[in-house]
Amino acid sequence: MTKSFFKPYKIKVIEPIKILSRAEREEQIRAAGYNVFNLQAEDIYIDLLTDSGTGAMSQAQWSALMSGDESYAGSRSFALFDTAVRDIFGFNYILPTHQGRAAENILFSSLVKRGDVVPNNMHFDTTRANILANGGKPVDLVIDEAFDPHLDHPFKGNMDIDKLTSLIVEKGVARIPLIMLTITNNSGGGQPVSLANIQAVSAVARRHKIPFFIDACRFAENTLFIREREEGYAEKEPIEIAGAIFALADGATMSAKKDGLANIGGFLAMNDDSIFEQARERLILMEGFPSYGGLAGRDLAVIAHGLYEALDIHYLQDRIGQTRFLGERLKKNGIPIVEPIGGHAVYIDAKAFLPDLPQAQFPALTITIELYKEGGIRAAEVGSVMFAHQDQSGKEVYPPLELVRLAIPRRVYTEYHLEEVVRAARAITVRKGDLTGYRIIEGEGPLRHFIARFAPCV
Ligand code: F0G
Repeated sequence: MTKSFFKPYKIKVIEPIKILSRAEREEQIRAAGYNVFNLQAEDIYIDLLTDSGTGAMSQAQWSALMSGDESYAGSRSFALFDTAVRDIFGFNYILPTHQGRAAENILFSSLVKRGDVVPNNMHFDTTRANILANGGKPVDLVIDEAFDPHLDHPFKGNMDIDKLTSLIVEKGVARIPLIMLTITNNSGGGQPVSLANIQAVSAVARRHKIPFFIDACRFAENTLFIREREEGYAEKEPIEIAGAIFALADGATMSAKKDGLANIGGFLAMNDDSIFEQARERLILMEGFPSYGGLAGRDLAVIAHGLYEALDIHYLQDRIGQTRFLGERLKKNGIPIVEPIGGHAVYIDAKAFLPDLPQAQFPALTITIELYKEGGIRAAEVGSVMFAHQDQSGKEVYPPLELVRLAIPRRVYTEYHLEEVVRAARAITVRKGDLTGYRIIEGEGPLRHFIARFAPCV
């Protein structure tokens, strides 16, 4: 059972939410074409669509917001941001960006040439898309254990070092402009990467003189897993572990909307001066002057505080504790989830939950719709709507995993809200034999999950 944890904050400002009646929810989801992206946020009781930019700020962050320095160049808020990022990440050069994907675009457009290959444990969608947009090929080299949703492994986000060395032999160093590692591995269930694995990737990168960049969105959460699960770190402060991680890398991309505890922002950091010079030029073109990079001064000040707050051990224990609380309660009530429970989200295994519903009828989407009807809960489908596609012969190819992501915003919901999610999921279990699935009536292509409309199969 979840060990009790200390709640390191109390609630000073609240945002009212309401809950519609079941009849109203059924009407809203029908009008939304059974796609939760089309729902109005005010019609949602508990919003678990994403943990990105949805966190609650602290009093220190709200104060920083009010004293933000909005000077175009050389602002006090930039100095605060720059000092914090330098202190925690230790890189020589730091460029603020409006969010993570802008940092990715600036990095890849500086480094990736047509025909290049970029390895990662698993690329997040925007990373993959930004590499493709720059003519490169993203390759996922996570360990095989990551693909078994019920296999226990302490660091299921690790990169397979043999796969990495084989890729370098196969493609040649000249075709690999950088190696990336995503901590924690969002696309693989929010699973952590061990420090030993980061060391091993770094050693390979250094041996071949290939730049090594970390996608650091959830780096603070990853430090807690290292502290808990890797020998020798139990007494280390998260900030020390973060220092050890980034000392092994040549740079990082960051979305401050996650472990920056901010509602917007990000950065690109690196040691190499020639990469920096190219990236700075692109930053000025695409985002803004290097001392604000697409952000207001107040946003920079908020991130400076948020990065430290995200590394507070009590914050992290509460944060990961909430995710475990939800995962363990779901499991106890017979709802199959991806294990071990990751950092920022719990993933329901829809194939195991609704084994009689074929993937052609979108089991993960069906659960997502039922969660809204049952409890006003918004989750994200990460299954056949998102990933099924046609092969060259026109045959539909379905993804191996059919998941529903319940991403937990930081410091926003209480365990009481999470209990409601469990109650709704349990209610679906009772009548799961009656569920008939959905079919697409509008919207195609790789981004159809955002825009498609559906109708129930009858
Ligand atoms: N890398 C990872 C691992 C991410 O999870 C995300 C965003 C990004 C990069 C891009 O950052 O949104 O600031 O541009 N993930 C969000 C999610 C959208 O819901 O998982 P961004």
